[in-house]
Amino acid sequence: TTSQRLIVVANRLPVSAVRERDGSWSLQVSAGGLVSALMGVSNFRTCWVGWPGVYVEEGPDRDALTAALAKEYYVPVYLDPKVFDLHYNGFCNSVLWQLFHYVPLNMDSKLSETRTLQFQWAAHQAANQRFGEVVLQNYSAGDVVWVQDYHLMLLPAILKNRAPKMKVGWFLHTPFPSSEIYRTLPVREEVLRAVLKSDLIGFHTYDYARHFVSACTRILGLEGTPEGVEDNGSLTRVAAFPIGIDPDRFARALEQQEVKAHIAQLLNRYAGRKVMLGVDRLDMIKGIPQKLLAFEKFLEEHPEWRDKVLLVQIAVPSRTDVPEYQRLRSMVHEIVGRINGHYGTLTHVPIHHLDRQLAFHELCALYAVTDVALVTSLRDGMNLVSYEYVACQSDNAGVLVLSEFAGAAQSLGAGAILVNPWNITDMAAAIEDALTMSDQERRERHRQNYMHVTIHTSQTWADTFISELNDTHVEAELRT
Ligand code: UDP
Ligand code: G6P
Repeated sequence: TTSQRLIVVANRLPVSAVRERDGSWSLQVSAGGLVSALMGVSNFRTCWVGWPGVYVEEGPDRDALTAALAKEYYVPVYLDPKVFDLHYNGFCNSVLWQLFHYVPLNMDSKLSETRTLQFQWAAHQAANQRFGEVVLQNYSAGDVVWVQDYHLMLLPAILKNRAPKMKVGWFLHTPFPSSEIYRTLPVREEVLRAVLKSDLIGFHTYDYARHFVSACTRILGLEGTPEGVEDNGSLTRVAAFPIGIDPDRFARALEQQEVKAHIAQLLNRYAGRKVMLGVDRLDMIKGIPQKLLAFEKFLEEHPEWRDKVLLVQIAVPSRTDVPEYQRLRSMVHEIVGRINGHYGTLTHVPIHHLDRQLAFHELCALYAVTDVALVTSLRDGMNLVSYEYVACQSDNAGVLVLSEFAGAAQSLGAGAILVNPWNITDMAAAIEDALTMSDQERRERHRQNYMHVTIHTSQTWADTFISELNDTHVEAELRT
């Protein structure tokens, strides 16, 4: 496989372009689990196709950015800003993202709403077309094309129409919801039919795969088999491929002088207190308000802990043009303000909240020094923050409090304290358990999770998916 070229297609490139004062371009690593996982994959000759985070008019300026990206084998897709807005902020993040995380479609009472959806859908189709053109320009026979996530579900059909022999895989980084939720999507058939043109379809968990197959049976009337979905004798293979991280990247970082210095600084600052950590994109699926309310309840019930525990919450700004995300930000700020106002003293503030992305070394230092991680997602495809926390806790054996609605609950459930993020009372009790757990129990729980994180890496995830894709393709050729 090493000589085979892999074309990864994702809505977002692993770097986003930022304009410097002198007019030149700098490239900043993008945040999110998809990028983190794929950056841990190194066994393939890889080329990436995706959106570079900005729109640039055709001309020398665009050429300069394209050239800078080409050095890293990144191929940019430039989408017209209007199309991009309707596709990304509209169809992807106000419709599909919500629905896939069990948030019902939001219907405005205005008549214009139906038109909005039509425009978003048209832009979404146009965006997928544009991605298709760029992939085809870069494709040579023998390459494997691996399409990522909910933004590009129409792409497999576009690619297969033009190049029927192309090996096309698609992987979903979010949950796939129960067909009872999925079937509310107005364009439910078109989306399923397009993605079924892939040779192989992958999900994080067996449950998501099962939901997908039953959506195909109920909505399209196709036959679901243990192998996948069958349509007139042609089979689309469907399976679970749980993602992971590159644990060595974190182990190496913890050995670096810069990170060690940072750790020493934090330990000094937090001395005498227990520290809990939350790291999330500021997204309603992460259950940040629920987490804050649970902490508030814990402080209310445990006056003895009030000046002895701190919550550090990193809220990475995300999709800031979508109104839902703007509302969430105000709501989170309000709750943080209330709790700090009520329980803070002249020398201690219970919540340390940051609205920004951290540098990798800062993030690693935080993962290493904190006593508890709180992952309270209401729904989450996998959640790699929980994996990264475990990877950085070899010395401390910190406790992971993990939502049962994150895909990671199926893999790290043995070592974590599992919670239902809607049950604030229970979560407050879990915080107490985590803070007071015996050393022995912490080490035993951490050992189990650490073993999982170091065995199920992003590299094995990609290797398994790609080799299965190659096999599936061979079988399909034999059948025809
Ligand atoms: N992350 C980052 N910078 C930050 C905070 C987080 O790059 O300041 C990364 C983090 O290391 C993790 C990813 O963002 O790999 C979040 O992935 P996860 O699967 O937890 O959730 P997602 O954001 O994909 O929903
Ligand atoms: C999730 C999605 C990714 C996405 C990431 C960051 O992990 O599954 O596809 O890249 O969030 O979101 P953004 O909208 O900034 O790309």
